Amino acid sequence: MAAVPSDPESVFTYGAPQLKFGPGASGEIGFDLAQYGVRRALIVTDPGVAATGAPERIADRMKKYGIDAEVFDGVHVEPTDASLRHAVDRARESGPWDAYVAVGGGSSIDTAKAINLLTTNDGELTDYLNPPIGAGRAPARPLLPLVAVPTTTGTGAESTTVCVLDVLDLKVKTGISHPRLRPTLAVVDPDLTVTQPAGVTASAGMDIVCHALESYTARPYTSYERKAPEQRVPYCGANPVADMWSERALALIAGSFRAAVRDGSDARARADMALAATFAGLGFGNAGVHIPHAGAYPIAGRVRDFRPDGYPGEEPLVPHGMAVALTAPEAFRFTFEACPERHTRAAALLDPALDRPDDPAEHLPTALLRLMRDIGMPDGVGGVGYTDADVPDLVDGAMKQRRLLEMAPRPVTGEDLAGVFHRSMTLW
Ligand SMILES: NC(=O)c1ccc[n+]([C@@H]2O[C@H](COP(=O)([O-])OP(=O)(O)OC[C@H]3O[C@@H](n4cnc5c(N)ncnc54)[C@H](O)[C@@H]3O)[C@@H](O)[C@H]2O)c1
Ligand SMILES: [Fe+2]
Repeated sequence: MAAVPSDPESVFTYGAPQLKFGPGASGEIGFDLAQYGVRRALIVTDPGVAATGAPERIADRMKKYGIDAEVFDGVHVEPTDASLRHAVDRARESGPWDAYVAVGGGSSIDTAKAINLLTTNDGELTDYLNPPIGAGRAPARPLLPLVAVPTTTGTGAESTTVCVLDVLDLKVKTGISHPRLRPTLAVVDPDLTVTQPAGVTASAGMDIVCHALESYTARPYTSYERKAPEQRVPYCGANPVADMWSERALALIAGSFRAAVRDGSDARARADMALAATFAGLGFGNAGVHIPHAGAYPIAGRVRDFRPDGYPGEEPLVPHGMAVALTAPEAFRFTFEACPERHTRAAALLDPALDRPDDPAEHLPTALLRLMRDIGMPDGVGGVGYTDADVPDLVDGAMKQRRLLEMAPRPVTGEDLAGVFHRSMTLW
């Protein structure tokens, strides 16, 4: 168990963007931008999303409300330091802009957050990256309005205060984290998600599942030492408001995840998944995530030659949601003893039809494994190209995610993580 604080925290915080949800909502963005006094907006997207025609359609609708809109479709799927610098340069060249509109998955939304930060504030990307990789600088000036329009059902990046990227030279994933990065308005339009390939729906959906499960089982906010107001952080630990979102997200996933992967045109399943992604984002964006996300950073960052279905395919890639999911069953076996009732309750929500094993510690891993098999996840960390010989390297990468590991409901050592990685090599 985590050490008992001498002066326990009694306060938690909750932050969220303005939200517009529902089929057709993305047609109203021009109206919303006009309310902020915006005249010129840059739409930030990736080539795959651009090919669906959605960003151009949104630009056309914005023009009807008098907004001058241009599309930048150069986002790199799973952004890197190089791709973010490139995007910032292009935005500077074509600017100045009054607002940014991200249309796409987490990759496009996070790229727009970096563009927004670096076109409104001095300094270089590394100044703002989380320590120890960067200097963890806080933006001195306010950012521009950012409207985030997710086209995947996954990351919840439209609600969060973080931007995630690969630092290519160091082969590590890291992020920028500051309340000012949070989008001003999230426009979640399930109609935009129906063109997601099945492989993207599966990986992005596992990201939702893990956001909900990790924030639900994170150390409670009361387990920390009391903070002064200036020490408060966006991720404050499990709390009653975040719990509510996570529980609702798990219930929606139970009803619709398999159906959305099986038949992408199932409008009800797509709408449920869009709502689940939003709910889980509103939860974990305030409570935090822990071991599966810490383990995902090196799994994605050190990829050799894995190329998943549904993704661009020019470069090897372990998608974020897949990387998170692969250690989740073992991670929750490890955390079970810290808060057993939360683990069994989460399993019941995620898989109401589960034939429950006698050992309550097995409920959640069993529910996860059943789901992962059904939606076509690879068979463990070994299934994306790693072997037991890679475990020290993977542990080393995960241990660098101190900020996340400290949110686990029990202390985690390198040896504990090595056990999680070894046992996650093959899952079934
Ligand atoms: N900021 C956060 O809070 C946060 C949280 C979790 C993950 N992330 C980051 O988000 C990224 C992953 O984002 P993602 O899973 O949403 O996917 P993504 O943005 O990387 O997109 C995945 C692929 O799906 C395609 N695609 C997306 N929507 C589509 C649609 N509607 N139709 C057709 N193709 C579509 C894209 O072109 C791309 O090839 C990672 O970089 C991850 O680290 C950020
Ligand atoms: Fe995630």
